[in-house]
Amino acid sequence: MAKDRGHFATKFGILMATVGSAVGLGNIWRFPYQVGEGGGSVFIIFYLIAVFFIGIPAMVGEFIIGRHSHANAVDSFKKIAPGTKWHGIGYLGVLTGFIIDCYYCVVTGWTLYYLFLSASGGLLGNTVEGYSELFTNFAGGTFMPIVFLFMVIAITGIIVSFGIKDGIEKTSKIMMPLLFVTLVVLAVHSLFLPATQEGLDFLFLPEISSLNFDTLLSAIGQAFYSLSLGMACLITYSSYFTDDVNLSKTAARISIIDLMVALLASVIIFPAVFSFGMEPEQGPGLVFKVLPSVFSQMSFGYLWSVMFYVLLFLAALTSFISITEVVVAYISESFKITRKKAVIITCSIFSVIGAITSLSFGPLKDFTIAGMNIFGCFDYLSTNILLPVGGILTSLFVGWRLDRKIIEEQLALSPSKKFIFNLYIFSFRYVIPIAVGAVLIASLLT
Ligand code: PFF
Repeated sequence: MAKDRGHFATKFGILMATVGSAVGLGNIWRFPYQVGEGGGSVFIIFYLIAVFFIGIPAMVGEFIIGRHSHANAVDSFKKIAPGTKWHGIGYLGVLTGFIIDCYYCVVTGWTLYYLFLSASGGLLGNTVEGYSELFTNFAGGTFMPIVFLFMVIAITGIIVSFGIKDGIEKTSKIMMPLLFVTLVVLAVHSLFLPATQEGLDFLFLPEISSLNFDTLLSAIGQAFYSLSLGMACLITYSSYFTDDVNLSKTAARISIIDLMVALLASVIIFPAVFSFGMEPEQGPGLVFKVLPSVFSQMSFGYLWSVMFYVLLFLAALTSFISITEVVVAYISESFKITRKKAVIITCSIFSVIGAITSLSFGPLKDFTIAGMNIFGCFDYLSTNILLPVGGILTSLFVGWRLDRKIIEEQLALSPSKKFIFNLYIFSFRYVIPIAVGAVLIASLLT
């Protein structure tokens, strides 16, 4: 292992950092709504199928590339397939990471602002319209969202500059357990609200009319985004894994924890929303307009709101850190500069583009590309196009191009488990490319 790149020190640290990447806004504001819309348990079952047959093998595929090469997104492909064009997947990953980061930092800034607002006691006591106005005025402003955006970039920059073991691993080992405790306390509280049953019914009762291909494709798309796949993020993280880590087990653990967090987030949100006569929404509307109004009506609303925004901020921050690491690792290793310098360069560029993205809710809101503002454009391009393309190519690379000996060595399966090996190869070659290809085509057609 290349010692000078650094590596994670413990298996627990690996799990916490990787779960930190996976658990993010995708779990808290995207998953619950998709379950509600996708026919409750119908969506959950499709999601389980997607995680099991597509998410876990795709994650293992990225782990194999990363841990074998111990290099950043681009160099890992160069090392494994020298003299070919496959490292283009790495460039695509860095580009996707860059684009996601430019809007993810804006939203992470919003979560930090709401955390401050709730902690200072300034969030409660408004009307439904008041909350909507509060959010629109804040996000549409010029100064405040950019200040919070810079704060998030600075926090991330400091953590990433300390490196893998002393920066990302150490902080994940504190932030993720804190996130889990907050999540469980909030979920238990939600089970004692007036409309708990209604919320749980909305979430879990199967709606047979949703049993269709569209729901399956949404579940695959959601699994892909939620597990941080398709943009070399997990290639980068696994390049710091130690050799004693079992890749299949780690992927299964991450996926299960990610699913539990998404389900608990749903259990927190729907009973609360229904108990106070609100309508569920997804995205920013849900967490910045609907929920403040819900907290405002709850007893001990101050406590619950602070806890919820701590949860949201930690979830967003740890994902933002992981995407930043993809870009930082690439810049520092490719241009042979120190990690600190790479962090300064990366964070400076994010600050400029992030600020422009933030302004797309205010002064730049009339600037649109294909009917979307800059923020929407980055979101659409990265989530609907670049992530699936990256995922398909990575899987084809592992399935068709990668030396089988490398796969065998990395999976470390006993000879009696040959069928599991064959199952993986079948997934890399056919299942993942076809399934994710269908998601890509569907999103291009709508
Ligand atoms: N998995 C994160 C979420 O659910 O919000 C988003 C994400 C992080 C996507 C890192 C891609 C990535 F590389």
